[in-house]
Amino acid sequence: MALEARRRVDKQNPTVSQETAISVENVSKVYRLGVAETRHDTLGAVFVDMIKSPLENYKKYRSLYKFDDVTSTKIGNGTERSDVLWAVRDVSFDIKRGELVGLIGTNGAGKSTMLKILSRITPPTKGEVRVRGRVSSLLEVGTGFHPELTGRENVYLNGTILGMTKREVESKFDEIVEFSGVSKFLDTPVKRYSSGMKVRLAFAVAAHLEPEILIVDEVLAVGDAEFQKKCLRKMEDVGQHGRTVLFVSHNMSAIARLCERSILLHQGGIVKDGPTHEVVSAYLSSAWGQTAEREWPDEAEAPGDDVVKLRAVRVKDKNGEVSNSHDIRDPILIELDYDVMELHHQLYIHFLVHNQEGVCVFTAIDQDPEWRRKDRQTGRYTTVCRIPGNFLAEGTLSVTPVLRSIRPETYHGHAPDAIAFHVRESFEADSVRGDWVREIPGVVRPSLEWTTRYTCKG
Ligand SMILES: Nc1ncnc2c1ncn2[C@@H]1O[C@H](COP(=O)(O)OP(=O)(O)OP(=O)(O)O)[C@@H](O)[C@H]1O
Ligand SMILES: [Mg+2]
Repeated sequence: MALEARRRVDKQNPTVSQETAISVENVSKVYRLGVAETRHDTLGAVFVDMIKSPLENYKKYRSLYKFDDVTSTKIGNGTERSDVLWAVRDVSFDIKRGELVGLIGTNGAGKSTMLKILSRITPPTKGEVRVRGRVSSLLEVGTGFHPELTGRENVYLNGTILGMTKREVESKFDEIVEFSGVSKFLDTPVKRYSSGMKVRLAFAVAAHLEPEILIVDEVLAVGDAEFQKKCLRKMEDVGQHGRTVLFVSHNMSAIARLCERSILLHQGGIVKDGPTHEVVSAYLSSAWGQTAEREWPDEAEAPGDDVVKLRAVRVKDKNGEVSNSHDIRDPILIELDYDVMELHHQLYIHFLVHNQEGVCVFTAIDQDPEWRRKDRQTGRYTTVCRIPGNFLAEGTLSVTPVLRSIRPETYHGHAPDAIAFHVRESFEADSVRGDWVREIPGVVRPSLEWTTRYTCKG
């Protein structure tokens, strides 16, 4: 797994055509349930661990990756084994050099697993992966580095793993530090960084060390809007220089902006691979792309920080029932549950609504005078926003809740496209459409007041 091994693998790929950067052939990844596999998010972490205790690690890896007994997956009577989980199942695709590709799908679809296989953090159980070129990857939120090493050491380690000389890394060092904005903490071990700081530095490293292939998992889930925009611009820039980018996100508008092609995964398998607008549209209009309710029972996984954490978001109909399909004439309720854990914050709760083309239809901000500009007690809150009927256009819409506070202005967290719902067309006389039967353009379809006066005889 060390650098040499990686170089060898990359050189041994005469079968990959000049234009192909990544070739994935019938790849599957099986996890044995109940057996913990140490999670590594960078090759750096794998690399350092291997150096620290090579034999122990070698044995551990061997035992975890031996699946000779399970890859048949069927037991004697032909039923599926229940002690294994197919995180990725028989996946094949090619990515050309210079392509920007989005990888989308619901939670647990296998996206991160696929990226880990491509980054050689974890080997596939079956199938073959060929990667042509130096890979730099940023996998999973906030965990891009080896925690014991300082920010500075991690930058050098990552450079070395990419096959760069110390001098080459040095020439990029200032740019990396400037992009990340963490210069004050460069000599602090990364384990003391906040998740936002970690992801900032990790992204800066991954994008600036001149990789030929850049693999990014959900970096936009962390960090403020400004940093997200900066990351997207940087990825675009990397793509424009003939590099290959593979990008996982739940943020459909980011995917739509960056990638011309997308791959949709569901339960480990590819469901659709093609132009992004078609793939995103298929995803959002599928039942599993429309989760009307999302909860974070585990506090550690909930979006937010030490001040406030989002615990649930749901879309309800006018009767208060959770529903992902709504008549265009009916009001829709968006409900947010969150825990305030620190006193004296003036929260500024809002959410963004995007349509399936990735357009932000509107942003709704909680301006309830009862709470506006007031410090909050600690505890659980439920905030409901009512979207009037006869306001949205038909189609699929997603909701991105954002937790912020003002004075001082602080970003606490957000949940990109946490839920989605469908607005159904109505052909009844009391709908905005009235008697018109053909398509009506527009991202909203509000019910407006009209008056007509007869002014003079013609
Ligand atoms: N190290 C592991 N050990 C066991 N099971 C795992 C491991 N990593 C992932 N899985 C399982 O494999 C499946 C695919 O997980 P993966 O993390 O690839 O999904 P994902 O598409 O990235 O989801 P998300 O959108 O939530 O990030 C899930 O059921 C997950 O629980
Ligand atoms: Mg993931």
